[in-house]
Amino acid sequence: MSTNKKIMVTAALPYANGPIHIGHLAGCYLPSDIYVRYLRMRGRDVKFVCGSDEHGVPITIKAKNEGITPQEVVNRYNKMMQSAFEEFGISFDHYSRTSSEQHHKNAKEFFMNLYQKGALEAQDTEQYYDPEAGQFLADRYITGTCPKCGHDEAYGDQCENCGTSLSPTELINPKSALSGAKPELRNTTNWFLPLDKLSADLRTFLESRENWKPNVLGQCMSWLNSGDGLKPRAMTRDLNWGVPVPIEGAKGKVMYVWFDAPIGYISATQELLPNDWEAYWKGDDAEIVHFIGKDNIVFHCIIFPAMLQQHGEYALPKQVPANEFLNLEGRKLSTSKNWAVWLHEYLEDFPGQQDVLRYVLTATMPETKDNDFTWADFQQRNNSELVAGFGNFVNRVMVLTHKYYDGVVQNPGILTDADREALTSISQYGRRIAKSLEEYKFREAIGEAMNLARLGNKYLQEQEPWKVYKQDAERAGAILYVATQITAALSIVFKPFLPGTSAKLHSMLAIKSSPNWEETEKEIIIAAGTQLGKSELLFAKIEDAQVEQQRAKLESTIQEKQEEDLENQKHNPQKENISFDQFMEIDLRVGTILEAERVPKADRLLKFTVDTGLDKRTIVSGIAQQFTPEEMIGKQVMVLMNLPPRKIRGVISQGMLLMAEDTDGKLRLMTPEDGAESGSVIG
Ligand code: 2FM
Ligand code: ZN
Repeated sequence: MSTNKKIMVTAALPYANGPIHIGHLAGCYLPSDIYVRYLRMRGRDVKFVCGSDEHGVPITIKAKNEGITPQEVVNRYNKMMQSAFEEFGISFDHYSRTSSEQHHKNAKEFFMNLYQKGALEAQDTEQYYDPEAGQFLADRYITGTCPKCGHDEAYGDQCENCGTSLSPTELINPKSALSGAKPELRNTTNWFLPLDKLSADLRTFLESRENWKPNVLGQCMSWLNSGDGLKPRAMTRDLNWGVPVPIEGAKGKVMYVWFDAPIGYISATQELLPNDWEAYWKGDDAEIVHFIGKDNIVFHCIIFPAMLQQHGEYALPKQVPANEFLNLEGRKLSTSKNWAVWLHEYLEDFPGQQDVLRYVLTATMPETKDNDFTWADFQQRNNSELVAGFGNFVNRVMVLTHKYYDGVVQNPGILTDADREALTSISQYGRRIAKSLEEYKFREAIGEAMNLARLGNKYLQEQEPWKVYKQDAERAGAILYVATQITAALSIVFKPFLPGTSAKLHSMLAIKSSPNWEETEKEIIIAAGTQLGKSELLFAKIEDAQVEQQRAKLESTIQEKQEEDLENQKHNPQKENISFDQFMEIDLRVGTILEAERVPKADRLLKFTVDTGLDKRTIVSGIAQQFTPEEMIGKQVMVLMNLPPRKIRGVISQGMLLMAEDTDGKLRLMTPEDGAESGSVIG
């Protein structure tokens, strides 16, 4: 990395329609923050921007569901996300939002630039229009029956029951989610980015990228090489929420959210550096790195680069280190299903323990494959790696130095081989960790940092200063001197990962100004004679009760979901079990209706004479609104024989006719297939 580079680090703009959860953090906010903190320690010229993605259909749907405006939705989440990020220590230089004036202006300029060059092609397509609501319908606003599985609440873009991705015209019996009306296909003009014509340039761009992760490049190449290659993609939408399309004849249209969102990175930089932003986006020195989750790959590696290439003035991304997904306790994280560990709740439940979550999420980061977060692993890593490993080492060094030498770092005198070996390993670890970070291997990097703490513990364990002190106080001083250097190195190499812990360590070690990375090249970081500060515990044990409480929270989510599902189910839930003996007591038989007539003054009741094989009995049934007496005569029915006789409107009814009732209340007779003898036993 040469030093005159202007490094632009972006983290995917989160949709402002829900709070941040651990999947977002592990996917892109934590790796980008670690990377930027490291670069800052190296003195690199780096800027780190993010902001809320405030457009798109899901936000309008959420607003509609809550009966508020989209602006109110995004205002709520923009604030909430920004403060959670800040408290968690994600060190953006600027956190913006795509509803900002600057962004609208910038996105319009970008659009016009492409439009005036002829890089956007107008195309007429037929789209569903809601005649009652008077507007075109986004795919998500159309529901209907899935042609694949028959699920009757599939969306215009996907069936959530069978997972098939759909286009709205494939739905059977489409309905508008706005008014319930049957939508009609109408002609509309939209502006397309002709990706088919741009694929050669995109291929050149992708083939010239160095050291991209195989998962990222693989996904891009499979898009480029797929059957008929890339297809033109609409960059405008018939919608009233978004950046208005700034051209004539485009009234009522806004930019596709994935057109304006990545431009948001540029807008955020403009807000941060009104006069100097271009150096980070244009020219040979601009080095752009986009941190994203894998679901954003196509937008950052194909669509946005194609837009940038068409514009012509911008540098293309140097790296897109996309992560895979994090799961939670074996299930996919989901905002809508509330299956998540929410950052704002974590911050409340574990005050001051940001670094524990930062540690666990980095140590299990889904860099090359999906990974699972479990509370058991969280507790175990905290208690054994942070408390018993790193924390215990630092604590022993601090406590012993205070106990034996009033906290003054001793002059080591002559060093032993073991001492020299320990000191040399500091710079080796520094280099190794830096290399991993520069290759975006955050798991490996934090693993190496923890190995340095293990090395410290091993050194102490082997040198046993608490025993040596009794015979040779000077030698014990030398051992603690070496261990103090390791502690100082830990405070540096952990700084990008655990900034709070690192700051505590700096104050314990009386390090005044925050050290840069190059300090790890030195073997001696803390000079002999330094008076150390007060010792503090770096980490606290996480008790079983704490993780049990978190698990209970998740458990209640599952229960609430099950209850909700039951409520939403059209069919009544199954009744309590009965015993086999109870079942055997029920006497069901086939009966044949001999006579049928209405019961006077009771418009719901019919009175039947039924041949049950045993007798000819009278049964009254409340089905007069769906069946006429005439149509019932001669029908075979299922009769519950041993219901105690009941007097209904003066008539004694001796049993019950059984019917099947649909979810909409329609009754059907339970007639035996090919006719049966009256009195046949059912069971
Ligand atoms: O997937 C998402 O959450 C998108 N809002 C990411 C946008 S990234 C960028 F392009 F702004
Ligand atoms: Zn389906």
